[in-house]
Parts: sequence; structure tokens; C-alpha cells
Amino acid sequence: MSLDLSVQLAPQNKHGLLLSNPVMTASGTFGYGTEYSQVFDIQRLGAIICKGTTLEPREGNPQPRLYETASGLLNSIGWQNIGVKALIKEKAPIWADWRVPVIVNIGGDTVDDYARLAEELDGIAGVSGIEVNISCPNVKVGGAAFGVNPDSAAGVTAAVRAATSLPVIVKLTPSTADIAGVAAAVAEAGTDSVSLINTLRGMAIDIDKRRPAIGNIICGLSGPAIKPVALAMVYEVAGAINVPVIGCGGISSAEDALEFIMAGASAVQVGSATFGNPRASLDVLEGIERFMEKEGIKSLSEIIGSARQ
Ligand SMILES: Cc1cc2nc3c(=O)[nH]c(=O)nc-3n(C[C@H](O)[C@H](O)[C@H](O)COP(=O)(O)O)c2cc1C
Repeated sequence: MSLDLSVQLAPQNKHGLLLSNPVMTASGTFGYGTEYSQVFDIQRLGAIICKGTTLEPREGNPQPRLYETASGLLNSIGWQNIGVKALIKEKAPIWADWRVPVIVNIGGDTVDDYARLAEELDGIAGVSGIEVNISCPNVKVGGAAFGVNPDSAAGVTAAVRAATSLPVIVKLTPSTADIAGVAAAVAEAGTDSVSLINTLRGMAIDIDKRRPAIGNIICGLSGPAIKPVALAMVYEVAGAINVPVIGCGGISSAEDALEFIMAGASAVQVGSATFGNPRASLDVLEGIERFMEKEGIKSLSEIIGSARQ
């Protein structure tokens, strides 16, 4: 049976963001894609989202920055990255030869930083879209501070929208009282789609040292522990807006991904699961294909939001 897994994540955008399938890698968990090209055929993925990128290179937060919990991972990497100029010079030319679209995740301290990043990336061969991170809990300024309320989230979105013709995805934080309200505001401000969720705030304490286990003290929780939270938010947001929704949070199997799709997500991102299984994203894709074959589903569109009726 020939299967149609393709999804359009920017239907209103002149370039569009057409993926051959709905499985993407989550920012910060797949480097620049190049690191994994030896591990499996990354060209089979729907899209790759690269590490959070800032105007200038950054060192990130103090060590230790990773801590494993019973059912998830705590991280406080911060925005360690090579900076947008090096990304354009060194990474984009590699991506330009790839079949798989690469989306650049951006972060900044001010609205102007986001706009300048969007402007720099506009028209760069190899860059198929921008994911706007207004949801990082691990930076002292910017990041999640913009994502917690509808007005500031819309402000960043409008500035990015005005600065680029590229497809724009706004990445939402779970650390808000009203995620559907924030989603509606960024949709109104012109984003092409939304992704959710970024990590939840969490911490751990090293009882021998009697100190926080992570240098940055409070950091971001990801992995299986956050899946039900993410799923509920995707369900809520998909019912509140008319732009495509990308689900993320604790996805490590095709079954997990299918739950998000049936909740209303047009695509999914695989994050922390890649650390335990470098080819987790491809396993998710192959599992979705097997499920569709077994169930006689020809097109993914048949099951997007199917749990909502
Ligand atoms: C080590 C690490 C680094 C991350 N870096 C970024 C980042 O730079 N930008 C971003 O938007 N999200 C970042 N995230 C969040 C993930 O993209 C994802 O939203 C989150 O981990 C939830 O998905 P998961 O449970 O599948 O990991 C990072 C997550 C981890 C674990």
C-alpha cells in the first residue's frame, strides 16, 4: 500500500513548509544534524530542527548541566551555540544539499534580537524555516519570559514575521497559566504554526553535597515524565487555533507520536529519546508507517485529530 505521510506546516506562507512525513527532531537534542548523518539516513526524517541559535556565539550555563531523574532528564544547557554568522557560513551550505528540510531554532534577550536573527536567516539557502524559542527556562533574560503571556509572545512573533518571509514556527512554554491564549495570540500575530512543549521547570538536589545537582539550580525537565502534560496542552491548543500544531514532549515511540497526532498535532518532535537511542526519530517514523499499514490508513490526514471527535 502506498502511504501518504506528507504534511504542510505553513499553508499560508508563500514558500510553504512541506514535510515528507511528520517526524522532526527537537531543538538541542540533534545538534546541527551533521553529527547524526553517520548513525542513520537522516534524509528520511520529516525535518531537522537545529540547536538554539543566538546572534553571538554562547558558552551556555555552568556545569553540571544534565541530570537523569526517574522518568526524565533535567538540563540547563542554556544557549550554547556557534552564533548565527558561523551557522550561515559553516552549516547552511551543508544543509542546502540535503533533501530533509532544516529549521533553525532562534533565541534572544530582546525582541530586536529575534527580529535581527530572522532577518539574517531570510533567504539563506539550506534554511527552510525558523522556530522561535520563547520558551527556554534556562536563560536569565529572554526565552520563556516572552512566552508566558499572550502580549509579549505576540510581540516577538510580529517582529519575526515582519523580518522574514521564511515559514515561522513559534515554540510555546508549558510555564504559563493559559497556553491556548498564548497560542491564539501568536497565531493572530502571524506565525505559520506552533510547536509545544518546551521543558517544564524542575530541579534536583545532591544530598551528599547538600547543594543543587545542577549548576543553574532550576532547569528544564524533559522525557517520558512530561508526555501526559504535553499531550493535554497539544489537545487544548489544537482546539483553540487554526494553524498547524507540532507536538513535543516525551515522545520515544510511534505509539507516543500517534497519541499526539490523534490529539490534533500535524507533526511531532523527538527530543530526549535520541540520547538513549540515537535513531529514535527514525524508529518513530517506521512505527507510524507500520501502524498505518496495519490499520489500512492511506493518508496521515485521516488520523490527525481523530481523538477529538
Ligand atoms: C539537552 C537539551 C537541550 C535543549 N535545547 C533546546 C534549544 O536550544 N531550543 C529549544 O527550543 N528547545 C530546547 N530543548 C527542548 C527540546 O527541544 C524539547 O522541547 C523538550 O526537551 C521536550 O521534548 P522531549 O521530552 O522529547 O525531550 C532542549 C532539550 C534538551 C533535553
